[in-house]
Amino acid sequence: MDIQQIEDTGLVRMYAKRDIALVRGEGARLWDSDGRQYHDFASNYGVNILGHADPEVTRAITEQAGRLLSCHQSFYNDARAAYVERLREKLPAELGRVFFSNSGAECVEAALKFARAATGRTHVLAARRGYHGRTYGALSATADKKYREPYAPLVPDFAHVAFGSLEELEAAITRDTAAVILEPVQGEAGVHLASPGYLEGVRELTRTHGSLLILDEVQTGFRTGKLFAWEHTGAAPDLLCLSKGIANGVPMGVTIVSEEVSEKLPPGTHGNTFGGAPLACAAALAVLDEIERRDLLSQSASTGAYLLERLRGLNAGGIRDVRGLGLMVAVELRERATKYLRALQERGFIALPGGATTIRFLPPLVIEREAVDTLVDTLGELLAGTREKAGTAAE
Ligand SMILES: Cc1ncc(COP(=O)(O)O)c(C=O)c1O
Repeated sequence: MDIQQIEDTGLVRMYAKRDIALVRGEGARLWDSDGRQYHDFASNYGVNILGHADPEVTRAITEQAGRLLSCHQSFYNDARAAYVERLREKLPAELGRVFFSNSGAECVEAALKFARAATGRTHVLAARRGYHGRTYGALSATADKKYREPYAPLVPDFAHVAFGSLEELEAAITRDTAAVILEPVQGEAGVHLASPGYLEGVRELTRTHGSLLILDEVQTGFRTGKLFAWEHTGAAPDLLCLSKGIANGVPMGVTIVSEEVSEKLPPGTHGNTFGGAPLACAAALAVLDEIERRDLLSQSASTGAYLLERLRGLNAGGIRDVRGLGLMVAVELRERATKYLRALQERGFIALPGGATTIRFLPPLVIEREAVDTLVDTLGELLAGTREKAGTAAE
């Protein structure tokens, strides 16, 4: 079977393809169809938080698949109830109600609809460089013209302000603002952290104006050394969006809302077929159990700090910036990142772009320090000789 030829001729051409076919994974390693092994510093865009083929997730899925795969939410289900109970233990008392869907965009979509319905307002403020997904609501909150323009017109009443500027937000927020939606750390844009006090300031402004705060933790969830990135700040949201890593690769989206928001939602007005499926809930429960049992949050916080420290120690003029939180880390270069991503892949490391000039690392929480060391050494070799001026990389 010619995997590449079949996909190239059979699929809608929507993704810039890499020239390997990944066929197997174990822990933080992946193998391609030629048997070549890779260190996984991408975890499928932040999804495989426990790594690949985790035995406990596999056991939970297998067991559940033998009993009941799906169960519409008009029926009660034991696996779903067990997960909701466990997830709520991890949340502050104010965030008490869970809505299930199947992806990041879908859980953002629910949050936006809920914010409008709960406030009776229509305006939404989001951040420039932010990324929230590709369905119409999520895309309207996403700023990037490249994604927006071919599909215009988008949902009305969305506007964008600079991430990090409380002044801009204060000037834009009004009594018509239903919600402000932000990523606590902007992932797709290249791992941009909020400056200290920013999220707390946003929290205050939204309260003052009677607007809701939606935090999109689709990428940051479980990855920054805490379960939720907002826990690094004092800014708990009214609506919280989770997806990607929460079920280690089984599609799942979760929108968590306060009791107050939940009370204002007209029953029966939003829903989906697959959300809250027992299969996804069983996987998600195993993820929470494993994170706790193996103390993966503190382990990932220290591995992330080590990765940051090692990258900052690279003495290459071609590096403009190194930043990160937990295992969400980026190296911004003075030139385009593509050729370095390709070179890393050729040397057995899968990493991600984060904007045109940034290499982003979202490894599984179980990544080992030896893998970090070999990655940083390899990147150091690739960047050796790069100078401070753009376009002078030695390769
Ligand atoms: C912060 C954030 N929100 C939403 C999404 C959309 O998720 P999905 O691709 O599952 O629709 C992503 C995906 O990268 C994301 O990073």
